[in-house]
Amino acid sequence: MSAIKILIIPGSLRTGSLNARLAGVIAREFAKADADVTRISLGDYPLPIYDGDFEAKSGVPANAVNLKRMIGSHHGVVFVTPEYNSSLPALVKNAVDWVTRVEDRGETQGQVFRERAFALASASEGKLGGARGLAAFRLILSGCRALVIPNQLALSFADQAYDDADHLKNPGDVALLQAMVKQLIDVAQHMM
Ligand SMILES: Cc1cc2nc3c(=O)[nH]c(=O)nc-3n(C[C@H](O)[C@H](O)[C@H](O)COP(=O)(O)O)c2cc1C
Repeated sequence: MSAIKILIIPGSLRTGSLNARLAGVIAREFAKADADVTRISLGDYPLPIYDGDFEAKSGVPANAVNLKRMIGSHHGVVFVTPEYNSSLPALVKNAVDWVTRVEDRGETQGQVFRERAFALASASEGKLGGARGLAAFRLILSGCRALVIPNQLALSFADQAYDDADHLKNPGDVALLQAMVKQLIDVAQHMM
């Protein structure tokens, strides 16, 4: 069987982002499991805030089509996103909204969410690690009829979570990370 292809999407563009750092750790773990890993930045897919008038006049932006196709060329997708005010950042929600509007030839809108497996992770300096944002994100993806695996990692106190080699210090976090990686690979392989 060919290598499983995993796409990792950080939900923050900030220099020094805790979520981008966690995305790097997650990417390493998937590579250790022999997955073929791609990490992108939503900064490479700038999109206007969704507006139906804009879409009616100009159509779906090329960046939304490109992002949808990037997702569609992978078997599993991991969003690693901050929690903003107990939910997910507008950057991520807006990207999801636009991607659901893409209708490639022979496909229906939102099909890309229904045909692959998703996993969620977050990092925060706070005690909850962004878990409330992930709950909100699960609700949104369930509306897209996406299969989101139960295992997730909400990394609390994320600014202090690493040793000098950039590995997670807490064995509980490592166990959650490994369980998420294994489950996403297993589920994505079943959907191939
Ligand atoms: C608008 C805004 C809202 C935030 N709301 C939350 C929150 O609800 N829960 C939380 O744990 N952190 C919250 N934070 C703090 C972020 O978790 C923190 O800034 C984090 O470092 C952002 O992720 P990043 O480092 O990947 O950019 C918020 C930050 C901003 C800017």
